[in-house]
Amino acid sequence: MGIGSFLKGKLDKHGGPIGLAKHAVAKASGDKPAASRGAGHSVEDLKTAFENLPEDPDADGYIAVAPCSILAEGERSTFKYGRVPIAVFRIDGKLYVIDDECVHENGPLGEGELDGFVVTCPYHNWRYDVRNGDCLTDTNRALSCFSVKEADGYIWVGPRTRQGTTSRGGEHDDGLKMSEVR
Ligand code: FES
Repeated sequence: MGIGSFLKGKLDKHGGPIGLAKHAVAKASGDKPAASRGAGHSVEDLKTAFENLPEDPDADGYIAVAPCSILAEGERSTFKYGRVPIAVFRIDGKLYVIDDECVHENGPLGEGELDGFVVTCPYHNWRYDVRNGDCLTDTNRALSCFSVKEADGYIWVGPRTRQGTTSRGGEHDDGLKMSEVR
């Protein structure tokens, strides 16, 4: 089985990590992932780490989404919480979890540029505060935030602490609305 197939199987089973998978597969094929800031883990590291990921929720109902060591200080990536893509950030030693999908057109925020506590969507540069899910580009909308903890070497994600909007769309940098460019 190729590494791509192996990782896909593990990701389907555990529900993520999307960004790290891209990084690993790109690394295995010799490509440099454009948006990834992965910690430089080898494919073997990833295989071992995700083979041992707990499958059952903990006593508080939290779900293990990744080994702690995969997300170093100042890094971010996309994982899955059940079926929900989430973006996880480690800033100043603390973890923050928000929806991965940008409220504009679902861009992957786990691949966005980080500046302090602000992440910028890689698609059209909408910006968010990862601490509270606030959208700084459209202040009428916000992302969901999730509870998170680290225990036994894993990142565990739990219930939402803020319910984000399901609204999508809005203006592009060039002033066109989404409905006008499709
Ligand atoms: S999809 Fe995020 S800014 Fe457009």
